[in-house]
Amino acid sequence: MSDVKKLAVIGAGTMGSGIALVAASRGIDVALIDVSEEQLSKASSYHAKTMDRNVKKERMTREEADTALSRIGCHTDMSDASDADWVVEAATENADLKKKIFKRMNEVFGDGVVLATNTSSISITDLATAVPDAADRVIGMHFFNPVPIMKLVEVINGRGTSEETTRRTIELSEAMGKVPVPANDHAGFVSNRVLMPMINEAFHAWSDGVAEPENIDSIMVLGCAFPMGPLRLADHIGLDVCRDIMLVMHRGLGDDKYLPAPKLVELVEEGRLGNKTGHGVYDHS
Ligand code: CAA
Repeated sequence: MSDVKKLAVIGAGTMGSGIALVAASRGIDVALIDVSEEQLSKASSYHAKTMDRNVKKERMTREEADTALSRIGCHTDMSDASDADWVVEAATENADLKKKIFKRMNEVFGDGVVLATNTSSISITDLATAVPDAADRVIGMHFFNPVPIMKLVEVINGRGTSEETTRRTIELSEAMGKVPVPANDHAGFVSNRVLMPMINEAFHAWSDGVAEPENIDSIMVLGCAFPMGPLRLADHIGLDVCRDIMLVMHRGLGDDKYLPAPKLVELVEEGRLGNKTGHGVYDHS
C-alpha cells in the first residue's frame, strides 16, 4: 500500500503523460506540469483516447474512465502543484536541464516529498548534486513506453538515497500496477545498457547496407521473437531519445562503442524523430 495521494509529474511528453494516466487510473490525484500548453493539450487528447479505448474494450466503465480523467489537472507552473506529496520528473534526457528542474522541485515541494526522476540513463547521484539537502529523497523511477502497457519500473538508488525512499518507491510502483526491479547507478542502468547498443547497431547495419530497415526489423521479430524490430522500436522511443541515451553512456562509460551511429544522428538532425514527428526511420504519416 502506498501513502501517496497526489503525484506531480514534470513534463507532459510521451513518458510523463503515460505516468500521469497510470497513476490516475489507480486512484492517485495527478498534477501534470509542462511549460508548453500545446504539450499539455496533446497529453489530454492521449488520455481521453486511451480511456475511450478502455471503455470500448470493457476494461472499465465510462464512469470509472471519467473519474480517472477528472483526477488529472494540467498546469504550466510547478508551484500550482505544491500540495503534491510525490514528484516524478520526466523531462528531456539532458543532465543540465534535469538539474535545473530538480533545484526548482526542491524549492516548490516541501520536506518529505520524494523527488523521483524518470531518467533513462543519467546518474541519480549526479542529479542529486543539484539538491544536496534532499539527496536522501532523490531516486530513479524508470518507466517504459508505452507506460500503460509495460510492467517494469527500474528503481535506481543514488549514493545518498535513503532506505525509506526506496521502500516507498517500491510501494508506489506496485500501487501503480507495476513491477519494480532494482538496478545500480551506472550510465544506462540495465535496460538501456543492453537495449540501446542493439538499436544503435541496427542503424549501423542499415547504413552498411546489410539490409533495409523493414528486413532488419522482420529478422529480429521473426527470428528473435521481439514484439517490434529495433528500428521500429527506435521510432517508438524517439530517435532523439536514443541518441541522447547513447551520448550519456558514451560520456559515463568512456568507451567509443557507445557513440551514436552516424545514421541515427543524421535522422535526428533532419528532425525525423520517429512516431512523435510522423517520420523517423519509417514514414508514420
Ligand atoms: N498507450 C496505451 N496503450 C497502448 C499504446 C500506448 N501508447 N500503444 C499500444 N497500446 C495498446 C493498444 O491500444 C492495444 O490495446 P488493445 O488491447 O486495446 O488492443 C495494445 O497496446 C496492443 O497494441 P497494438 O495492437 O497496436 O500493437 P502491438 O500488439 O504491436 O503492441 C506494443 C504494441 C505494446 C507497443 C508492442 O509492440 C511492444 O511491446 N513493443 C515493444 C515496446 C518496448 O520495448 N518498450 C520499451 C521501450 S524502451 C523504454 O521505454 C525505456 C527507455 O528508456 C528508452
